[in-house]
Amino acid sequence: MRRLERGQTLVLATHNKGKLREFTELLAPHGIRVVSAGELGLPEPDETETTFIGNARLKAHAAAKAASLPALADDSGFSVSALNGDPGVYSARWAGPEKDFPVAMSRVNDLIGNNPDRRAWFTCALCLAWPDGISQTYFARVEGDAVWPPRGPAGFGYDPMFQPRGKTVTYGEMNSAEKHRGSHRARAVEQFLKGCIL
Ligand code: IMP
Repeated sequence: MRRLERGQTLVLATHNKGKLREFTELLAPHGIRVVSAGELGLPEPDETETTFIGNARLKAHAAAKAASLPALADDSGFSVSALNGDPGVYSARWAGPEKDFPVAMSRVNDLIGNNPDRRAWFTCALCLAWPDGISQTYFARVEGDAVWPPRGPAGFGYDPMFQPRGKTVTYGEMNSAEKHRGSHRARAVEQFLKGCIL
């Protein structure tokens, strides 16, 4: 497995501000210099794959090639048992071009309707790709429930309607340190750090 040198610049292959903030916080203690795809003016590739891993690979390879630097991409999403895993890989698209997550959350809740099965999970797939085409992937999933109404002002996306199993607060009610203690993204980053840096 190829490793990143300390001090090496890593491209964060995302244009999502919420993800960028979380990656910056999660990677800060590990001596990796990060630069975002947005700062480098890289285009946002279409997410044409049907799996989290497939889309993470596509985004990481595109950024690594365009920037001639190693690139880390995240493909993640919110899945609901009663909706057969939807919105899943289409989580961002359910919020429409306006990125209206209150609307997306209402749609999820309306579709669950009276179904007593409120189980839900967040998935995070990461891909670290190198300009020569080598890549490594990491995957994590956190189980919980889809709650209604949404609760909490923190985070982004579907955070206010997801309560991890065993917790009494939603991701939207946690500060970043609390969310990072066990979130899908924090767990996937932990594997990435073990595999590539520590
Ligand atoms: P994509 O990975 O670019 O396809 O976008 C993933 C979408 O899933 C985001 O736009 C959010 O809507 C949602 N999502 C992924 N991770 C989180 C999270 O940690 N909190 C809330 N929503 C998330």
